[in-house]
Amino acid sequence: MATDGNNGAARFLPDRLDLRSLREAAAGCQGCGLYRDATQTVFGDGPPEARFMLVGEQPGDQEDRRGRPFVGPAGRVLDQALEEAGIDRGGVYVTNAVKHFSFTLRGRRRIHQTPTAAEIDACQPWLNAELALVEPEVVVVLGATAARALLGPSFRVTRQRGEPVPLDTLDSPSAGVALAVATIHPSAVLRAPDRDAAYAGFLADMRVAAALPDGSRREPPG
Ligand code: URA
Ligand code: SF4
Repeated sequence: MATDGNNGAARFLPDRLDLRSLREAAAGCQGCGLYRDATQTVFGDGPPEARFMLVGEQPGDQEDRRGRPFVGPAGRVLDQALEEAGIDRGGVYVTNAVKHFSFTLRGRRRIHQTPTAAEIDACQPWLNAELALVEPEVVVVLGATAARALLGPSFRVTRQRGEPVPLDTLDSPSAGVALAVATIHPSAVLRAPDRDAAYAGFLADMRVAAALPDGSRREPPG
């Protein structure tokens, strides 16, 4: 029996793979239960030839309403750090590990809820397809959820942030592998008791990513 909401996104992938067909197909994804209460799928956004790909956790309240990633408060922190690190946001592909907003209601307020491991896994086919199509040189991994999706469950952002690591945990390294730089999530900057220190650390990691030389993508052997 076909059961929606627990089989993952794979069966919703389109036959023809380009960013436009992916985005259209993702709009109808029912690969986990999150589509039921969210407003819409928030797919990645940015030029297909982007050198940098930024991966967050999941859309927040404003992203869910507007349908675009990182357009709320966390996005403003991100925009500032990108600008200070000398990275043009218009040239960056921005996406999330999970494409629907996960929340609980507190009165009428929708409170962010961290996606479960099962939801991250369910949504992974979209992220893998985006990576395969954009083929970024540098992937900035924003927080623990994105790190779990891209670098595996044993990666620890707190210990391994700011160090470029090859993104070779994914299934098909046939197109070469990008370098990943993990950092904290911009929302964690906003929640930090010492916001200035948290932002400084975030910016320092972003500068590591910005300084990686052209040709950082490791091409496949042969
Ligand atoms: N937080 C995220 O991880 N992604 C967004 O798009 C917005 C907030
Ligand atoms: Fe599909 Fe991902 Fe949305 Fe779940 S969160 S329904 S897997 S797009």
